[in-house]
Amino acid sequence: MNREDLRDRLAFYRDLGVKEVFRRGAAIEQTEARPQEAAAISIPPIAPSGDTLLKIIEDLGECRRCRLSERRSKIVFGSGNENARLVFVGEGPGADEDEQGLPFVGRAGQLLTQMIDNTAAKEGIPIRRADVYICNVVKCRPPENRTPLPEEMEICGEFLFRQLLAIRPKAICALGSTAAKALLNTKDGVTRLRGRWHKWRDLPVMVTYHPSYLLRPYNQDAKREAWEDLKKVLHFVYD
Ligand code: URA
Repeated sequence: MNREDLRDRLAFYRDLGVKEVFRRGAAIEQTEARPQEAAAISIPPIAPSGDTLLKIIEDLGECRRCRLSERRSKIVFGSGNENARLVFVGEGPGADEDEQGLPFVGRAGQLLTQMIDNTAAKEGIPIRRADVYICNVVKCRPPENRTPLPEEMEICGEFLFRQLLAIRPKAICALGSTAAKALLNTKDGVTRLRGRWHKWRDLPVMVTYHPSYLLRPYNQDAKREAWEDLKKVLHFVYD
């Protein structure tokens, strides 16, 4: 492995939340060659080169890597344009998504669709929801829609990161604090992070409010701000 590959691989591990890598023998090579053993010591597998969404779905399989799998109906991998220039990342499936196996199809999803379609139309940008890609940090519904636990985010994060690397959009829009945490490794809340550009690896990330938050009746200011954020993202990506 050359220096560049090694740097990339270490960056990938860092993004997955792996804090320390020990250089003992050929440990890294072993991880690649013997994924079963790697899983046993909980070092996540790396993104294979030439990775595709199809390959990632295959690797995810009938996932039982964490407890979220126990009560899910369907895995919600993601939907939309596989060559999208823009990817939205939410938190995790709700009841409707769990039933249908598709992200953002419930009330929050309907709002997200309206936000994308209407903002794009108003701004003269010829895209609709089907032109972007939408996925979540965790692919199985957390019971009672609770926030995913750090270990659940870490395990599923491997697949999210592979999705992002396979699509390589021009920008990512993180919806809410769970997505922001997963991508930016920060404890800051959405109010502090929103409205400006951050980076996940080399990809620009805009943080904005989660549509579920915007559905609450008293969040008028947040609604206005979310629309501003989305306008910024759409112009950056499609102008
Ligand atoms: N909320 C999310 O974060 N994701 C979905 O897919 C639906 C609701």
